[in-house]
Amino acid sequence: MSLNEVYLNGKFVRPEQAMVSVMDRGFLFGDGVYEVIPSYGGHFLGLEQHLDRLDRSLAAVRLPNPLSRREWRSVLARLIGPPPAPDQAAYLQVTRGAPAERDHLCPEDVDPTLFAVAKPIKPRRPEIGERGVACITRPDIRWERCDIKTVSLLAAVMLRREAEDAGALETIMVRDGMVTEGTASNVFVVLGDQVLTPPAGPRILTGITRGLALDLARAGEIRFSEQPIPVGDLARADEIWLSSSTREVLPVTRLDGRPVGGGRPGALWARLDGLYQAFKARVRDGRA
Ligand code: PDD
Repeated sequence: MSLNEVYLNGKFVRPEQAMVSVMDRGFLFGDGVYEVIPSYGGHFLGLEQHLDRLDRSLAAVRLPNPLSRREWRSVLARLIGPPPAPDQAAYLQVTRGAPAERDHLCPEDVDPTLFAVAKPIKPRRPEIGERGVACITRPDIRWERCDIKTVSLLAAVMLRREAEDAGALETIMVRDGMVTEGTASNVFVVLGDQVLTPPAGPRILTGITRGLALDLARAGEIRFSEQPIPVGDLARADEIWLSSSTREVLPVTRLDGRPVGGGRPGALWARLDGLYQAFKARVRDGRA
């Protein structure tokens, strides 16, 4: 166990000893992909789904996976430490290595750069459950392959800064009149007794937490549908939620300065969050 060691290219080293070439294509082109995997008490939540998505991202950018499933599991387990470890998110990235020359054309056979680190997950502040969070909406200025979890995150970085400047936690993006997702989260909209979320496809990242929330909704007999959401539905939503591995499922109670529904976390969110917390407790005990 060590929060003060990182994994780089086959070795566990202290962060200050972890050095990457300036020719690395991750640095020069944002040419790489990543994952963020939560763990509770030393047990990962959704590890296999995250590693499946890593495979899909790598295949989409034509990078071979440099490690086997077993190797990834063992690297990540060492970073978070054995149970009962503190709650942490493991971050991993694979970039297309450091060829001798900078060239847009990517080499066919590469020696990829692998990096992984664990960082503590902060417990959710109680006010969030009581008051919810604020969001803004903006045009989705990203590319058309948002299903790839790429380290090229400039649009997300810019839009997240806009949210912060407006006193909000997250920016909900809209493309062609349809809600896509948050800069680092998926979006759910509650209309009446139904929960809606945009369908999987190239315009969103298929979040692992989104999938878990849908599974929990199904098991809890909460009605839901994966369908395109016109931006106008945000203004008439009874509830809006965000989901991500590090933020779980959060209630959005203000959007562009106006209250969402009654302006307080909604009843369906409270139900879903109860199911989510129960699931997390099972993960923490090694029972999920
Ligand atoms: N981001 N959409 C985007 C654009 C994201 O970056 C993320 C997660 C999600 C939610 O996916 P998941 O439920 O699998 O975490 C959706 C991570 C947490 C990050 O970039 O740090």
